[in-house]
Amino acid sequence: DEPAAKDPVLTAFDLKTAAEYMSKCSNIVVMAGAGISTSAGIPDFRSPETGLYSQLEKYNLPFPEAVFHLDFFRTNPKPFFLLAKELYPQKFTPTPTHYFLRLLDEKNKLLRIFTQNIDSLERVAGVPTDKIVEAHGTFFTSHCLNCRKEYDLEFVKEIIFKDEIPRCKECDGIIKPDIVFFGEGLPRRFHECINSDFDKADFLIIIGTSLQVAPFNRLQTFVDKDCPRLLINREPVGKSKSPMDAINASGSLLYGTKANRRDVFHQSTCDEGVTELVKLLGWEDDFNKLLESE
Ligand code: APR
Repeated sequence: DEPAAKDPVLTAFDLKTAAEYMSKCSNIVVMAGAGISTSAGIPDFRSPETGLYSQLEKYNLPFPEAVFHLDFFRTNPKPFFLLAKELYPQKFTPTPTHYFLRLLDEKNKLLRIFTQNIDSLERVAGVPTDKIVEAHGTFFTSHCLNCRKEYDLEFVKEIIFKDEIPRCKECDGIIKPDIVFFGEGLPRRFHECINSDFDKADFLIIIGTSLQVAPFNRLQTFVDKDCPRLLINREPVGKSKSPMDAINASGSLLYGTKANRRDVFHQSTCDEGVTELVKLLGWEDDFNKLLESE
């Protein structure tokens, strides 16, 4: 008879085996980025040509990310508010990927979604808000930079659409939406949820993100070493653009290496990847019902 495989861990771990594994999980954590909203018409940040950061020439910024830098905003808030008007999440509808996240919850498998997106499409898709961590904040509320008075979306939206700068009624300070700027701390909820969630996670899905921005791009190293990590993205991501390096700081390779990581990189669009996963999980009927009902 065949000698037993020298090292049983050296079996392939691909989307199919990942889906089989997922079917037994009940604490799945998702890390999402702008790539899950591009098919809804919202540009991501770093894709060449289509990414936001390559379309900001007209604001003659010192560098593209400046539009989201707090000190630049204090001196010149105009570019941000013009961009906010352009990006305003009003007509955007969730993508199949957003509905896949809702299906994970309806199947009682979703522990939490950590999203870097500020478009609130996870909420719009019907994911319960206690299952969502908006790591880079949200447009839903705004605060005066000076006296911290809170303002709601409607108040700020009206002023943005008149191409004016929203100013505080109390102290005339600049009002800034609660999206996290470079130079600002992340919401308390982000830090609170990390500790509990990444210990409990029995499966990690990383989807539609270049993993370029800290501290978000460290989260994938917090899961237990036996916790499989599935990256669904159009391109390899991370420092050296090697798909596996991105999802493990120690640069482990596919499942079965010395680090014994179960890492899967599924190179596709987010919507194709989740549709493939839905098929492998046998959830097509529920998924299509969800897509048709919304
Ligand atoms: N399907 C799959 N992958 C996609 C798709 C798609 N339809 N569209 C884009 N992508 C990929 C891109 O190839 C890229 O790797 O998604 C990734 C998007 O990366 P970024 O544009 O860098 O967006 P993100 O990772 O969310 O940026 C993180 O940067 O500026 C800050 O605060 C901002 O939250 C943002 C953070």
